[in-house]
Amino acid sequence: MIIRNETADDIPAIRRVICAAFDQSAEADLVDSLRDCGAIAFSLVAQDQTGIVGHVLYSRFQVPQHCLALAPVSVAPQCQNTGIGSKLIREGLARARQENWQAVFVLGEPDYYQRFGFSARMADKFDTPYPKPYFMALELVPDALKQCSGEIIYAEPFLALEEN
Ligand SMILES: CC(C)(COP(=O)(O)OP(=O)(O)OC[C@H]1O[C@@H](n2cnc3c(N)ncnc32)[C@H](O)[C@@H]1OP(=O)(O)O)[C@@H](O)C(=O)NCCC(=O)NCCS
Repeated sequence: MIIRNETADDIPAIRRVICAAFDQSAEADLVDSLRDCGAIAFSLVAQDQTGIVGHVLYSRFQVPQHCLALAPVSVAPQCQNTGIGSKLIREGLARARQENWQAVFVLGEPDYYQRFGFSARMADKFDTPYPKPYFMALELVPDALKQCSGEIIYAEPFLALEEN
């Protein structure tokens, strides 16, 4: 299995994986909208001999500009719990470090994301409409978030999603 950047040819397969993972199309529509508005920092796919079996998206915030949002992460149902989601997330975090992004935020299950170093405590001082234990942050650079607090503004397509 390899992890690589998405290409234009992958877009239909990425949609299929996301829709299958979430059993609905809202997250796939979100990814398409983020791509269309240029908010994607990077989009990685997991590919095995059968094709694309996983996807992860890291997108820019409007505020703070030096941080990334991790969402969504999707693994084809028949391939879940085999390490693909973890590999996608870890490769994405390594890539973010290489590109000098300072921190990553995620909204999700603490039990899953804590294993990558995300912590609700780290995100606590930021204002979000999301319930606290599920909104987490990971510093890629030590103390990157120390001087930072207040408002977090996701890219526009996330805001549109909340309104629906
Ligand atoms: C969540 C998801 C990305 C995880 O990827 P994966 O490849 O299946 O998981 P991994 O093999 O990397 O990790 C497996 C571990 O994660 C745990 N896990 C999987 N989904 C979980 C969830 N929703 N909540 C908490 N833990 C979860 C498993 O119990 C397992 O734990 P263990 O290592 O202690 O045994 C994948 O299951 C998926 O696409 N789910 C549907 C879409 C979704 O909910 N995405 C996340 C929100 S953005």
